Amino acid sequence: MTDSPRIGLIGGTGREGLGVALRLVHAGVPVLLGSRSQDRAEAAAGSLRSRVPAARVEPAENGVVIASSDILVLSVQFAGAEATIAEHRHRFRPGSLLIDLTVPVAFEGGRPRFVELAEGSSAEHIRARLPESVALGVALKTIPAHALAAIDRPLDCDDFICGDTEDARARTLEFVRLIPGLRGVDCGALDAARVLERMTLLAITLNRRYKTQGARFRVVGLP
Ligand SMILES: NC(=O)c1ccc[n+]([C@@H]2O[C@H](COP(=O)([O-])OP(=O)(O)OC[C@H]3O[C@@H](n4cnc5c(N)ncnc54)[C@H](OP(=O)(O)O)[C@@H]3O)[C@@H](O)[C@H]2O)c1
Repeated sequence: MTDSPRIGLIGGTGREGLGVALRLVHAGVPVLLGSRSQDRAEAAAGSLRSRVPAARVEPAENGVVIASSDILVLSVQFAGAEATIAEHRHRFRPGSLLIDLTVPVAFEGGRPRFVELAEGSSAEHIRARLPESVALGVALKTIPAHALAAIDRPLDCDDFICGDTEDARARTLEFVRLIPGLRGVDCGALDAARVLERMTLLAITLNRRYKTQGARFRVVGLP
């Protein structure tokens, strides 16, 4: 019997990372919860346990999480992604999978603006900075933190995934299956992230126009 891959969140203390962690521990999946600060990681782990008393969650600094995980979810603010990878580059396990959910959005005067990147997307920007031995998948970019946090309500939506290799996509799809209520939809190569990240901007716009917080997507017509 092989051990289950260890799952860690880099920046698991934020709204999105904590929401992903909540859905995972609620489904009985153990997580390592990372932060730049051990204290913030412990506080976030405590908040998970208050919602899911049986939560299997281990708080740690991001560097420890990176060195200990087979699957990592990068859930930091986009502005901090490059520095986080640079600081911990040597700690990634060869053969590990990084799942990127960052979206390059800046808020100016309360309005969201897509931050244009030379590489085309946040995922490709991150690919260019990751060690070659680490596979990169994209998931969860269009899943709102608000919906993740509402644990009593099914997510009931699609999650668009892409990745830099077929194997990365297969592993990312497998990861998405751990979260009940998400259907993983394979969008192909990593440059699909250019579309997916802009879809998040659309979801933010819809939330504002319709005065809601949980706008997300479902594709019809797929087998
Ligand atoms: N919110 C959503 O609905 C949503 C939906 C889809 C995708 N996303 C993406 O998810 C990511 C996180 O968003 P969020 O809403 O969860 O933001 P957030 O609540 O501000 O949390 C992000 C976490 O990132 C870490 N962080 C912040 N600045 C950093 C820096 N300079 N360097 C390293 N780490 C830093 C912080 O962790 P520590 O201070 O504990 O280290 C913080 O808890 C973003 O890339 C966002 O685009 C969000």
